[in-house]
Amino acid sequence: MLPTAPLNILHLEDSTQDHQLVCRTLDKAGFSYSIARVETLSAFSVLAASDAIDVILADYRLPGFTAVDAWQALPIDGDRPPFILLSGAIGETAAVAAIQTGISDYLHKDDLSQLERVILRSINVHRTRHAKEKADRDLALSEKRLSELTGHLQTAIERERAAIAREIHDDIGGSLAAAKLDLAWISRHASDPGVHAHTKAAAEMLQHALGASQRIMMNLRPSILDQGLFAAVQWLASNFEKRTGIKTVLRSNSEDLCPEKSVQLTAYRTAQEALTNVSKYAQCSLVHIEISDAEGFLTMEISDNGVGITRQEMQKPNAFGIRGLHERAKTIGGWLDVSTISGAGTSVTLSVPLAAAKRASLEAQFQ
Ligand SMILES: Nc1ncnc2c1ncn2[C@@H]1O[C@H](COP(=O)(O)OP(=O)(O)OP(=O)(O)O)[C@@H](O)[C@H]1O
Ligand SMILES: [Mg+2]
Repeated sequence: MLPTAPLNILHLEDSTQDHQLVCRTLDKAGFSYSIARVETLSAFSVLAASDAIDVILADYRLPGFTAVDAWQALPIDGDRPPFILLSGAIGETAAVAAIQTGISDYLHKDDLSQLERVILRSINVHRTRHAKEKADRDLALSEKRLSELTGHLQTAIERERAAIAREIHDDIGGSLAAAKLDLAWISRHASDPGVHAHTKAAAEMLQHALGASQRIMMNLRPSILDQGLFAAVQWLASNFEKRTGIKTVLRSNSEDLCPEKSVQLTAYRTAQEALTNVSKYAQCSLVHIEISDAEGFLTMEISDNGVGITRQEMQKPNAFGIRGLHERAKTIGGWLDVSTISGAGTSVTLSVPLAAAKRASLEAQFQ
């Protein structure tokens, strides 16, 4: 299909005759166009740099330079227009070499009947490539924004959780502890056995409520992380084992793992979600957790010997646990791998290059 707007053509050609032949061919094909002819490299560079050129037609051999020199004179970063070699015989090797440098197409001057087709094809390829590059750039930008938003939301969520944990500690925890002291006082000063029985029952309820508020606080803000990542994961693992009865083995190359706070929190949340998934879905009898900070990487693998995850389960629309872990790992410069074998178990591995995490944490501080 012919373009509706007139085409701006730049013709690099030292022969007036050949130029006129090209014009006649374009007229015959019904092209609406304007064409400028240049013969020198400097005149070519000036005109080619203007945004208005839709397509360049170039003879191969010109006085003192070749079309490849002209191609290389175009700005590398700029949006080079389609560049078609329109020349006498230059040999197949030279034509292939020229096209490998990025020149769009080659047409022999004796084959001018093909000019319309070659120009339209080059313009179409160029537009498609342009649209794809723009779509790729837009996609990369939107992925970057999404990842920044995820990072921001996670920080906000963690901050909010810490604030709620503080309130539970100060208000609820404080009041429960005070009520427990009062109950103990009442019990010491009462002689009625009925009062004793009631205060004892009330003290037990209070103890239960204190335990629950501590558990809730721990889930909201893992203060255990203050004792280091190993201690925190050990605490998660032993609670998990107690709660589920699934044997849980923790191994690490060091008990003194102290990567960036953001890495520790991400690793802790990863272990928490992976263990929650194991208890909900794996139907397994054994879990292994391996942590290492060797060779500049923090790696943590949580594997079970359960039923595994099917492809459909992995793509469930309303499941955000594993997806969230992928995004979370990215915000600290790491990544998550989930490998699973049907009937033989699942393994979730977090890997974080420690230097990248340090950089990400510094950048976040200065934002
Ligand atoms: N260890 C596992 N063993 C077997 N299946 C698993 C395991 N972990 C996850 N799955 C399957 O993968 C699905 C996706 O897990 P994911 O954690 O992303 O979402 P979810 O647990 O269903 O929901 P959410 O975490 O958002 O509350 C689960 O619904 C489950 O079917
Ligand atoms: Mg889950």
